[in-house]
Amino acid sequence: MCPPNSHLFNLAKMVDCLKALQPTDGSQLYNGNRICYGLNVTGTNPPPFMITAPKGRPTFCYIDHQALRWNFRQVREKVGRHVKVLSVVKANAYGHDACPVTKTLAEEGSDAFGVATLEEGLEIRHETIESPILVLAGVYPEQAEQFLRNRLTPVVCETESLRNLEAVARSQGATLNVHLKVDTGMARIGFPVAEIDSWLPELRKLKALKIDGVFSHFAHAESVDGSYTRRQMELFEQVVRRLQEQGCRPALVHLANSAAVITLPSSHFSMVRPGLMLYGIHPSPAMTNQVDLKPALSWNTRILQLKQLPKGSSISYGQTFVTERKSLIATLPVGYADGYPRLLSNRGAVLVRGKRAPVVGRVCMDLTMVDVTDIREAQQGDEVVLLGKQGEEVISADEMAQWANTISYEILTSIGARVPRVHYSSKED
Ligand SMILES: Cc1ncc(COP(=O)(O)O)c(C=O)c1O
Repeated sequence: MCPPNSHLFNLAKMVDCLKALQPTDGSQLYNGNRICYGLNVTGTNPPPFMITAPKGRPTFCYIDHQALRWNFRQVREKVGRHVKVLSVVKANAYGHDACPVTKTLAEEGSDAFGVATLEEGLEIRHETIESPILVLAGVYPEQAEQFLRNRLTPVVCETESLRNLEAVARSQGATLNVHLKVDTGMARIGFPVAEIDSWLPELRKLKALKIDGVFSHFAHAESVDGSYTRRQMELFEQVVRRLQEQGCRPALVHLANSAAVITLPSSHFSMVRPGLMLYGIHPSPAMTNQVDLKPALSWNTRILQLKQLPKGSSISYGQTFVTERKSLIATLPVGYADGYPRLLSNRGAVLVRGKRAPVVGRVCMDLTMVDVTDIREAQQGDEVVLLGKQGEEVISADEMAQWANTISYEILTSIGARVPRVHYSSKED
């Protein structure tokens, strides 16, 4: 269960400690689906260690906080000391567990955090940090008071929303910081650049709202061509100039996602908003030699059952795989309900004893079968790597995404809540 090359804890010592604290049941210290080793990430009064239920299912994600720290430092190196970094920790920190991740990134000097929803913002505000939190995916009228009460920063995308927030803030005699989102080419959310003459005058009427930031989002910053990205940047600069002409000078001007942090220094302005690269994944294969990143998440399980099957045996639902030889098949306690994509049926692979074992038959809701016929030493209970490194072999989020016809973002954010996240720090290089 312990990730390789880590110096996180002495298991025997930890179990002793748990026994001393909870003589009958160490699992009492298991906090939901989060397990923290050697990290003070569990709130104001953490128990000294946490451990999963001793007889729990052995399917875990391991989150290496040393890798997170390393990746953050790569961002800092790219943008310099004078540009602020807003770390994007939405969708449970891209599946890595938002609260512990946020705390580590705050320790590294992240200036602000970006989440998608009010609820995500409340979670990290209450559990971890005091830094500014920008709620990126919109604000709804009935949420205004909670934004104020919890010092969350809304993103405003249209005038009706500006008016509503202004009214609520004013009624409370408060000032609320907001960021304006401008649509320069995503056609998702934001004030349309083409309609600037209709929305710009509205800003002058504001008394209780402070425009602390203005930003936009790239649609294709990883493209080699870059012409669309340049056009978006020009439009963004035009908007910033128009704001300035009206006397509106937001302190935070931001546009760059990970791809632009890596490849487009002119887009860094006063703040950047990296997500993916913090988790150790390159936005495109072409960028692998432009920045050294370390994947922070690995996903492991153990062989639940091994069985010898004769040639001609059908495996899993729908008879999509029939053995062509006498086969050794391992059943793994992970399935699509954990976020292991069903599209990996007869396409994906896992690592067992440092070798690849192909997924055979359909991935089920809770179980998946792999062919270990060529891994003769395989035994029940063997560690299996679904995502990550074992020996010399690696299965990356990008490779898994290719098998599943998707992107690394979706692989990471789909890993289910029933897979506990185990937090640790590997040795520093
Ligand atoms: C508004 C916004 N900013 C920044 C990011 C971070 O992007 P990336 O993970 O590509 O760095 C995202 C991610 O989707 C986003 O929606």
